Amino acid sequence: MTAASSDSGSARLVVLVSGSGSNLQALLDACADPEYGAQVVAVGADREGIAGLDRAAAAGVPTFVHKVKSYAERADWDRALTESVAAYKPDLVISAGFLKLVGDDFLAEFGDRYINTHNALLPAFPGIHGPRDALEYGVKVAGATLFFVDGGVDTGPIIAQVVVPVEDDDTEETLTERIKEVERRQLVEWVGRLVRDGWTITGRKVRLK
Ligand code: GRF
Repeated sequence: MTAASSDSGSARLVVLVSGSGSNLQALLDACADPEYGAQVVAVGADREGIAGLDRAAAAGVPTFVHKVKSYAERADWDRALTESVAAYKPDLVISAGFLKLVGDDFLAEFGDRYINTHNALLPAFPGIHGPRDALEYGVKVAGATLFFVDGGVDTGPIIAQVVVPVEDDDTEETLTERIKEVERRQLVEWVGRLVRDGWTITGRKVRLK
């Protein structure tokens, strides 16, 4: 898959958020450099009143919100989300702390170009408490994984991983913060590589072109 380019010559990113949006901010900052090769064309969320939406607004990026509970059926929410994202014609859709699993419609449309960053070394510790689960297990290394989303929970083909040593006195908070620092750098580096080089997915193997 090669990321198609917009008129301005840079790839179009739609970023989905549910929280503080520090990963989104890292992407916005990277996109300020034309050499990076991408622009954030829209930010979507599943809730209002989050810092991630404020960051988008501050950068002049359009936003949209679809709350699951505003829809009678989960599939209706998924369709609405799919339509909003599709309207921005993204080359890559990025879940950056987006706390919802998308459904069949979304994956049918974007399954070959929807990526997520997770704060654990998959396949260990999927789900929303990666650092806490890793600490409780007693692992000596934790980290972050960037992957293409499939129909499972944090199960898709892996793009990149980064390791963070666990310290004896780590708490969930300290480990989470140390992971987030390297996670942001990994996200920025690999989104850039994907959109500039294009990629292939063969089985579970992701390769740059
Ligand atoms: C990231 O660590 C991600 O792995 C996890 O939520 C965090 C999002 O942080 N699922 P932010 O909203 O980008 O600051």
